[in-house]
Amino acid sequence: MRMYDIIFKKRNGEELTKEEIDFFIQGYTKGTIPDYQASALLMAIYFQGMNKRETAELTLSMVHSGTTIDLSSIKGIKVDKHSTGGVGDKTTLVLAPMVAAAGVPVAKMSGRGLGHTGGTLDKLESIEGFRVDLQLDHFIKNVNEIKIAVCGQTGDLAPADKKLYALRDVTATVDNVSLIASSIMSKKLASGADAIVLDVKTGSGAFMKTIDDSFVLAKEMVDIGTNLNKNVIAMITEMNEPLGYAVGNSLEVQEAVATLKGHGPEDLLHLCIELGAAMLVVGGRTSNMEEAREILGRTIKDGTAIEKLKDMVKAQYGNCSQIDDPDLLPQAKHIVDITAETEGYVHGIDAEEVGRAALVIGAGRETKESPIDYSVGILLIKKVGDKISKGDILAKVHINDMLKLEECTEKLIEAYDISMEIPDKRLLIFGKVDKEGIHKY
Ligand code: URA
Repeated sequence: MRMYDIIFKKRNGEELTKEEIDFFIQGYTKGTIPDYQASALLMAIYFQGMNKRETAELTLSMVHSGTTIDLSSIKGIKVDKHSTGGVGDKTTLVLAPMVAAAGVPVAKMSGRGLGHTGGTLDKLESIEGFRVDLQLDHFIKNVNEIKIAVCGQTGDLAPADKKLYALRDVTATVDNVSLIASSIMSKKLASGADAIVLDVKTGSGAFMKTIDDSFVLAKEMVDIGTNLNKNVIAMITEMNEPLGYAVGNSLEVQEAVATLKGHGPEDLLHLCIELGAAMLVVGGRTSNMEEAREILGRTIKDGTAIEKLKDMVKAQYGNCSQIDDPDLLPQAKHIVDITAETEGYVHGIDAEEVGRAALVIGAGRETKESPIDYSVGILLIKKVGDKISKGDILAKVHINDMLKLEECTEKLIEAYDISMEIPDKRLLIFGKVDKEGIHKY
């Protein structure tokens, strides 16, 4: 078999066989297929798509590219959660401690930033000393002892995804249903959770821009999991503006900590309660969503959720005093106000553009090897629905390299859609997909 023929076939819109998919995944994982051929096939898949069979086979091939993890030594139903990627999406930092504080073990393997979206691992690494590279026995020990661990793809877990994820990030081949579904589900299946809650983002800052496409992606992932006897629920959630106010690693940690201390943004808290409640239900803590919401709300009021975050930071060698006092997290040298040039109401904040503005100043990666500047980012001051007068501060840019300011500012101004009519309120959650099918709200 030759990689050239596989690229040629997909480029011409033909279906790939299981053997061809396995040849590609095994060869790329081993390094016998170079990045340039893998990139070409990814681009062909991007344009020609894959059908359900190909996507399921790609997923399984990626699961089998490495070891699968046995979490049976962790007591209870292990629940994982994964987001398809958004801007300002710090939900894991908030809901993992809440769910663990409510008694459901959270064994979470997270990812790094991808394209214009941020990644939980990068955010956690803005905490001094925090280690995301836990060995498996350490990961299991932490979940057994404190009910929570968040780490990177340990060792040999779905290594094909690890390599392809980094390659897609820099070759503009992220936003494709088959590539996203196989990437997420291969990791989730290989990492051994019993139940999975998926947060499928929809809108300008998501990889899926329309609600219909987001339901298609959600259904694809739920079907893959259900066919393999996993309890999978996907929620379709708003990403037409960044979640919360903070975009950028250390700023997002600060906002997550504020939320766990009871004074976070409403949209972030609401989403965390909804996703967290689904995790409690699939985790067997209760069968009632309303009761699950109440349990989670209590973990914030009684301080057990923030204590759980601190337990995790300590167990993963991070500096807990930065959680007690988030001002000790990395801070940028300059904070620059971005002001409104027009008046009206904010109708939308193109989250992808905000993500790119944050990338420009160093909050994300330009190439696979680029370092990240944890201290930089964007703090939105105005969000959708807010009334604006000319000269009001829309956002604050936390920046080190002032040479990047102009490009960042242009993107931010461009991101704000301001007009005179009062905007309609949008839903935060558009529906869910489970093994019974699609439920639109
Ligand atoms: N998250 C993933 O893990 N993979 C993707 O492809 C997109 C989001």
